[in-house]
Amino acid sequence: MTITLAIETSCDETAVAVVKKYEVLSSIVTSQIAIHRPYGGVVPEVASRQHLESINVAIVQALEAAQLNWPEIDGVAATCAPGLVGALLVGLTAAKTLAIVHQKPFVGVHHLEGHIYAAYLANPQLKPPFLCLLVSGGHTSLIHVKDCGIYETLGQTRDDAAGEAFDKVARLLGLGYPGGPEIDRIAADGDPHAFKLPEGKIKQPGGGFHPYDSSFSGLKTAVMRLVGELKQSSDRLPIADLAASFQETVARSLVKRTIACALDYGLETIAVGGGVAANSRLRHLLQEEATHHNLRVLLPPMKFCTDNAATIGCAASEHLSRGHLSSLNLGVRSRMTL
Ligand code: KG4
Ligand code: ZN
Repeated sequence: MTITLAIETSCDETAVAVVKKYEVLSSIVTSQIAIHRPYGGVVPEVASRQHLESINVAIVQALEAAQLNWPEIDGVAATCAPGLVGALLVGLTAAKTLAIVHQKPFVGVHHLEGHIYAAYLANPQLKPPFLCLLVSGGHTSLIHVKDCGIYETLGQTRDDAAGEAFDKVARLLGLGYPGGPEIDRIAADGDPHAFKLPEGKIKQPGGGFHPYDSSFSGLKTAVMRLVGELKQSSDRLPIADLAASFQETVARSLVKRTIACALDYGLETIAVGGGVAANSRLRHLLQEEATHHNLRVLLPPMKFCTDNAATIGCAASEHLSRGHLSSLNLGVRSRMTL
């Protein structure tokens, strides 16, 4: 079975993993969050430099943790797009260099494909077709997974991604970065029905609303307005209630579209991936609604929802075993459709 060493450096995690098809032999994630936190977001130039500092150590650690050495590795992979160009370059260049030096096949992986493949870590027996709700800091998509490398996007956000909305609303509430985990934690003490917030709907040209597309910028503006009003009437903001109401609105909006899409397309299995898939309310509500409609939900372990190299390695193993190799001339791209 293919053993792959995979590298992921598309944003602020320097990640290296060794996987045996869908079995994780090691997964090293060196987070830069503490470095970017004072800036309230990821600083691209700082991210690239940090990747350079950490990448070699992470590669050695991943091999050591897997108790393997180069002769046992069958292929090398790295995320090639989408993401921060300077950050991606560090991982891709390291992977291509290792492939040349150790004479291994090389494959570049789309970052979102990694998030999709988290589903296989939750269930190695999984077979397409299935629906994947992919919710991260940069994307919110409903993807029909037809086969390895064959994907159709059925729905997406028209403005902010779900994770971006969590991060922006967290900032409005004076919470730390990244905002998603902070809102998740604080919402546990709040009332999700304390405030009625608008669910973003996308009008269709022929009338009615798009069944699968979403919008989160109006929701963010509504929270901003509400915070302004509440600040005028009181010194203390009801942060927990605001966080819980916002989280509930996002979770309901995502779950409604996901269930409708799965039912319309006759897809009985729903996988979730991306950082926001770590959200406790989203996980609970999706599971509840899916059970109600006799659908199966695959919830990957939290550590494989956020950025990591193990999921990139799973996607790469599948590509390598099918002979899908990339040229060593492959470059990075900040944007790329799946
Ligand atoms: O997939 P990811 O690690 O990186 C991207 O590819 O963007 O996702 C990061 C996003 C951030 O916006 C973060 O706030 C959000 O995922 N996130 C969460 C939670 N954990 C991470 N959002 C809501 N609830 C969480 N528990
Ligand atoms: Zn991601």
